[in-house]
Amino acid sequence: MSPRVILLPGDGIGPEIIPAAVAVLKAVGPELQWELEEHLFGGASIDAHGTALTDETLQACRAADAILLGAVGGPRWDTTDPAKPRPEQGLLALRKGLGLFANLRPVKPLSALYDASPLKRELIERTDLLVVRELTGGIYFGEKTRTRDSASDTCLYTRAEIERIARVAFGAARSRVTSVDKANVLETSRLWREVVREVHGSEFPHIELEHLLVDNAAMRLIAAPRHFEVILTENMFGDILSDEAAMLTGSIGMLPSASLSGEGPGVFEPVHGSAPDIAGTGAANPLAMLLSAAMMLRHGLAMEAQAAAVESAVDQALAEGLRTPDLGGSASTAEATQAVLGHL
Ligand code: IPM
Ligand code: MG
Repeated sequence: MSPRVILLPGDGIGPEIIPAAVAVLKAVGPELQWELEEHLFGGASIDAHGTALTDETLQACRAADAILLGAVGGPRWDTTDPAKPRPEQGLLALRKGLGLFANLRPVKPLSALYDASPLKRELIERTDLLVVRELTGGIYFGEKTRTRDSASDTCLYTRAEIERIARVAFGAARSRVTSVDKANVLETSRLWREVVREVHGSEFPHIELEHLLVDNAAMRLIAAPRHFEVILTENMFGDILSDEAAMLTGSIGMLPSASLSGEGPGVFEPVHGSAPDIAGTGAANPLAMLLSAAMMLRHGLAMEAQAAAVESAVDQALAEGLRTPDLGGSASTAEATQAVLGHL
């Protein structure tokens, strides 16, 4: 088998953690003929081509089995000028271009890291939740306007968009889905609630469904994280809640994600950003990247055994005391990678 994977290291620490993922892929599948092709993306692509995602790169992604992405952005490209290209546009164009409407962000604090979280151990123990975030609709992609004195972003959702993401969430749940919205204020949220209720009633009546307002959900996520199993939510709420949930694991440097379309190739990337403050220092935690590679093995390449092997190698390395600076230790990116490879 020769899996074709496009590597998009991107910016900041992205190019430092992608090689860690490549090393791990080669270690779990030494018999495979990995076809790895690297492309510029985000700020790096803006510098070279004037745009964060070129047509050529998008085409290459479409033709691949899966895409492994580092991170994009950095102060170098920060601008409020709507006419200037921004690295994040590449990410959004990639999600839209590949139809990646379903974003899965599992949050499971590892027991070795219970004490790395700013929250009390008793609170986070046995938390195991999945954020299912709608990724190609809502305020991220609605019409935008801008004049000198006013600006607007439109939040639009269709019934079909809500139905398909609701199915992903119910399909992933064993017993409970918590749908998060702002139905006391937003019309899109009232449609969201109605459609989620319909999908639940007609296709998944055996799963418990509850609705929470997003402000309340943000509070409950910290007060009682164990309550949650699958959180189903729209694009922007999912963005915010998944960063919040990341702190349950002690560091955002631990959280992987998968963005799926249901048909074509998926994109697998850490939830954290490009961390420009530590880029170039060799201190980046590669574990979210490695866990994203595991999600790629599982969801993108149907290699469940290899995915589980990577996850268990990360667990074991942490249990043996591996700690990068974000987790209060001093292990470098290279040392962390070696520690995980040692368990494969
Ligand atoms: C994420 C990121 C992106 C998002 C940014 C970089 C555009 O925060 O993947 O969570 O908001 O979706
Ligand atoms: Mg985010």
